[in-house]
Amino acid sequence: MNLTTSYLGLPLKHPIMPGASPLTNHLDSIRALEDAGAAAIVLASLFEEQVRLTQTERLKLENRLAEADTEDPLIEGADAYAFGPDEYLEHIYRAKLAVNIPIIASLNARTPTTWVDFARSVQQAGADAIELNLYFLPTDFDTTAGEIEHRMLEIVASVHQGSNLPLAVKLSPFFSSLPNFVSQLQRAGVKGIVLFNRFYQPDINVRFQEVAPKLELSDSTELLLRLRWLAILSGRVPVDLAVTGGVHTPNDVIKSILAGAHGVQVVSSLLRHGPMHLRSLVTGLTQYLEEHHLHSLDDLRGKLNLAQSPNPEAYERANYVHSLLYWDR
Ligand SMILES: Cc1cc2nc3c(=O)[nH]c(=O)nc-3n(C[C@H](O)[C@H](O)[C@H](O)COP(=O)(O)O)c2cc1C
Repeated sequence: MNLTTSYLGLPLKHPIMPGASPLTNHLDSIRALEDAGAAAIVLASLFEEQVRLTQTERLKLENRLAEADTEDPLIEGADAYAFGPDEYLEHIYRAKLAVNIPIIASLNARTPTTWVDFARSVQQAGADAIELNLYFLPTDFDTTAGEIEHRMLEIVASVHQGSNLPLAVKLSPFFSSLPNFVSQLQRAGVKGIVLFNRFYQPDINVRFQEVAPKLELSDSTELLLRLRWLAILSGRVPVDLAVTGGVHTPNDVIKSILAGAHGVQVVSSLLRHGPMHLRSLVTGLTQYLEEHHLHSLDDLRGKLNLAQSPNPEAYERANYVHSLLYWDR
């Protein structure tokens, strides 16, 4: 049985890996994930705020008790981060020594200015690849979609300028034309697309009339959005695709690969059930291949993508119309 996969040019023993989360903040849990069979590790992100903090606000932070502006979000959140930039680089270095699987560093970026030097340091620290999380939420009415995409491409260019590590970009689903933007990223040298960031939607507390930040772990229903876009992109643009969001069961893994995933990232299910849950996903995938007399993942990957599916309209507008017209309790 051959579960091997190439993701971002990295040979993996299978496609399943923990995605970015606090689970990968400690060497013990990284080793536990390797013991559970993880094919690679995506480290939690270093946020742009942390990098900017050291460049522009370090002194302020050092003196924060005496004179910091506590309303400054850079200062307010500083202690919440697990790592500063130097510690993050050290964490990459130690993680590489601790395990024998690829280590993917994750950077969460909003502007292009910060990244050239840091990307270079990430490469020197020994990371095997970079996942760039482009988490940007426009709230002003003057910025156009084109301007935002342009800024994202500038961030990609600055990471490339600093490092020649393979680069994946983790995106949100909110693009007017995702295929076009993915194609622009690919032309800019991006090797992989990670679908999708989850936006943590604040709730509203009606009793206190307050906005209440909320982080709910996912369930498998979130996978459907990812499956559709995996299927639409798969085989049509020369990038590797990874899924993140809603992978909880072996069937979720199998569906993701059928839709075209090269990499399958899991977080909520590991936070809920512990690292060994990853092993059950690998076992379930292996059993499925055996039961269906398939010898390798290549026999499965993309079989139900938009290009190959015997029923492409299921992914397209026709299915939307059909679903509404024929809805039946
Ligand atoms: C507690 C927590 C922390 C996370 N931290 C990060 C992070 O640092 N960087 C990032 O790109 N994604 C982060 N994520 C998002 C996950 O990597 C993943 O994309 C998301 O949880 C969807 O996958 P899931 O359904 O398997 O949980 C975090 C998620 C959780 C629950």
